[in-house]
Amino acid sequence: MNKVRIGVVGLGRLGFTHAENIRFHTKNTNLVAVCSHSLEELTKAREKLGVTNCFKSIKDMISGIKLDAVVLVSPSKHHAEQSSYCLQEGLHVFCEKPLATTIEACKEVEKELIKRPFQVFMLGFMRRYDPSYLYAKKCIDAGKIGRPILYRGYSVDPNSSIEGALKYAAQSSGQFIDMAVHDFDLARWFLKAEPTSIYAIGGCYLHEEYKQFKDGDNVSALLKFENDAMAFIFAGRTAAHGYNVETEIVGTKATLRIGSVPQKNLVEILDINGVKKECSQSFNERFETAFRNEIQEFVDCILEKRQPEIKAHDGTRASYIAEMATKSFKNNNLIKL
Ligand SMILES: NC(=O)c1ccc[n+]([C@@H]2O[C@H](COP(=O)([O-])OP(=O)(O)OC[C@H]3O[C@@H](n4cnc5c(N)ncnc54)[C@H](O)[C@@H]3O)[C@@H](O)[C@H]2O)c1
Repeated sequence: MNKVRIGVVGLGRLGFTHAENIRFHTKNTNLVAVCSHSLEELTKAREKLGVTNCFKSIKDMISGIKLDAVVLVSPSKHHAEQSSYCLQEGLHVFCEKPLATTIEACKEVEKELIKRPFQVFMLGFMRRYDPSYLYAKKCIDAGKIGRPILYRGYSVDPNSSIEGALKYAAQSSGQFIDMAVHDFDLARWFLKAEPTSIYAIGGCYLHEEYKQFKDGDNVSALLKFENDAMAFIFAGRTAAHGYNVETEIVGTKATLRIGSVPQKNLVEILDINGVKKECSQSFNERFETAFRNEIQEFVDCILEKRQPEIKAHDGTRASYIAEMATKSFKNNNLIKL
């Protein structure tokens, strides 16, 4: 195989970006098909990406065109079932986070993968492919910060994108699994340990609509890990200034901060109001490079017949922590994991 033939499932807020990256920014691959429930999105893909094989269902896509791999960017509740189905069809699978919205469903995918060690499976924890996060990981692994003792992660969407977030809320399974799952993954990655307890709180501070989903518009969690390290995680939907992903890893010898002042670029605007830095307004903008890098890694893994560093089990663990955080938030109690 010289070029990987990919079909993208889901062309929404993130799916179109993945399709665009595969079409224009990934080596050794062809975007040969797309699938969406929305006719409007399929028309856009045909016009902007030149894809002629457009399908309304994943089954039609897989039976209708020869593919090597799929990139699943459908709503989270479909991830596990679609991953298993595509694996059974002999395809390599890239699945957006979270792996699934229940632990049972995560484990089903893991079981399917045990039977298929030669098919590549990759999960979309794209922050692990962002150059700054990769650099931080290198520093930690080289011992430069000593013993990591605290992970602090802020992941907040701009309030300006609340309309789309509310539209998706019924299918998101809540803030912890939808947003904080990235931080649960990074905390495990950086601290190299599993959490042993979690306590979560939060509320609807600006958007009462989240109450109907027993969710909050801003939530947070405190975790203790088996190696005694700590984590504090905050996820929200109401940042006034833009898309704010901020991470800190405190060690015994040094502290690392990534994006502690969220910024669009290195430009500073000095005007009558003082000094200002603009901020990215969306995940697509802040993690543009990471999204491209992770898809390139998926394609390289297929061509080089190897598995990516992120395993399905990492997805199961992150979903489990998120599920326990949601339970703690709803019942207002500390949970031993
Ligand atoms: N890595 C990240 O930071 C990040 C950011 C945003 C979204 N995501 C993930 O991407 C996924 C999609 O999110 P989104 O915001 O793009 O959603 P969205 O609602 O904007 O788009 C969903 C897309 O899936 C299609 N779809 C719906 N049901 C389907 C089905 N049964 N089969 C095939 N296609 C179907 C819809 O037609 C639409 O094209 C979610 O799982 C979300 O968690 C990840």
